[in-house]
Amino acid sequence: MIALGSDQGGFALKQEIIAHLNERGLEFKDYGSYDEKSVDYPEYSKKVAEAILAGECDKGILICGTGIGISIAANRYEGIRAALCTDCFMAEATRLHNDANILALGGRVVGPGLALKIVDTFLDTPFSNEERHVRRIKAIER
Ligand code: RB5
Repeated sequence: MIALGSDQGGFALKQEIIAHLNERGLEFKDYGSYDEKSVDYPEYSKKVAEAILAGECDKGILICGTGIGISIAANRYEGIRAALCTDCFMAEATRLHNDANILALGGRVVGPGLALKIVDTFLDTPFSNEERHVRRIKAIER
């Protein structure tokens, strides 16, 4: 189950991602926001982070205007590794190396074509499970 969250800056891209996940037959839960009204992005970081930490969802996708604020807020939760990606190389590397559990995107940064490729790369790349990466991830949590 994939947890989705956005503010007004990410709402339009989230609709494209929802259509894409439906096409792929992947299950998701949309934690809002549900329109383009101005909201505070930390609320949606919290909802998606908590869904993952509670085990309700295994991965999340968070989108704001830049992807920056919503990823900063998500990374305040212990056990969350939110990665802001602007290309497929970053999405692949963050899954292989960081076992990122949230993909952050900027709705005003990447177009929908690229964003959907980034989403697919993120969702389809497993963690490498290599000892050095496991060690480094553990060191983040201290
Ligand atoms: C909202 O205007 C904007 O600040 C937000 O979407 C995001 O870009 C913050 O980092």
